Amino acid sequence: MTQISKPLTSLPAILQNPSWPPPVWLMRQAGRYLPEYRELRTQEPNFIKFCLTPSLTVEAALQPIRRYDLDAAILFSDILMLPYAMGCDVRFVEGKGPVLQPVRTAADLQRLDRPEWRETLQPVFDSIRMLRQALPAHKSLIGFAGAPWTVACYMIEGAGSRGFDTAKIWAWQHPELFRHLIDLLIDRTVDYLIGQIDEGADLIQLFDSWAGTLPDIAIKEFSIDPLARIVARVRQDRPGIPIIVFAANVGAQVTRYAALTEAEILSIDKTTSLAWAADQLHPMGKALQGNLDPALLVAGGAALDGAVDHIVAQMKPRSIPFIFNLGQGILPQTSPDHVARMIARLRSA
Ligand code: CP3
Repeated sequence: MTQISKPLTSLPAILQNPSWPPPVWLMRQAGRYLPEYRELRTQEPNFIKFCLTPSLTVEAALQPIRRYDLDAAILFSDILMLPYAMGCDVRFVEGKGPVLQPVRTAADLQRLDRPEWRETLQPVFDSIRMLRQALPAHKSLIGFAGAPWTVACYMIEGAGSRGFDTAKIWAWQHPELFRHLIDLLIDRTVDYLIGQIDEGADLIQLFDSWAGTLPDIAIKEFSIDPLARIVARVRQDRPGIPIIVFAANVGAQVTRYAALTEAEILSIDKTTSLAWAADQLHPMGKALQGNLDPALLVAGGAALDGAVDHIVAQMKPRSIPFIFNLGQGILPQTSPDHVARMIARLRSA
């Protein structure tokens, strides 16, 4: 095993030494709820081009760090940049979200297996390197990718529905094609994450935003196993880089993600009791991240204060490795003042 020689930044450090107040960062901490982001976006209205312009992505990633002194920055990119680089037609349509050209046939799949993806993503690797240089030494830099199931949902469905029934039905009706798509996404995601680590990412988060759409009978094959394979391969090639798995809305199934993947950190969704999750996962040697409902951050006031206090009451007495975060991404209508209030309350508790 090679040893990582650089000093640990705040997030990896808590795995060895839990601290209070806990380190804090927020899923989707950069983005439209910040006026300075909306201003920056006017420089490049095309979101894909924005993600491929390092001077803009570095600034977008640093904005929430400056405003809130968060303990970690996350690469500014999108989980759909990987399918874009693989040759899938991806567009971000204002007010409609992502629109992809659907992948449904063997020929569609074959077109996606080409070597140019890495060159297309070079600006993302450059962004990581520049961001690591720009960040203070003790702040962590999080690299990320979408989980194969979630990325496949967007690729199969194309545009529109949020339930992803089309993706599930297609996967069950075309098991061989589905396996081929997932295998291809696993290979690309491993290389993509290793590339991010080599440019300076201190830890990695895998987003399985649509894991919660899967029935019990499919969750292992469609979501957990692909994540387990990615984590095992990244761990093998780059030991010492912690990996966070976020499987959204899976509730108690989070224990299976903990048991069946080598991820050190599980991000707990907003539906799940942190105390319960801590009692299950800490004995398994896992750290926790989470899990304030982003709608509470929109609401603010006494409801938000109470929710912060609830997390403190569950986690402070336990003294186990913990990262404060939301249970899902920040909503665009969030008041930046509510974010400041939440962080101040947490840090003074
Ligand atoms: O601070 C950060 O976390 C920014 C980096 C980031 C973005 N997307 C930027 C973005 C990250 C980590 C993501 C992850 C992502 N993207 C996920 C997983 C997390 C989650 O929320 O579940 C998913 C499912 C996506 C796919 C995606 N990208 C959607 C559905 C949309 C449109 C809806 C929306 O939230 O705006 C995007 C666009 C997107 N990705 C924006 C940003 C800042 C908005 C683009 C803009 O209008 O400026």
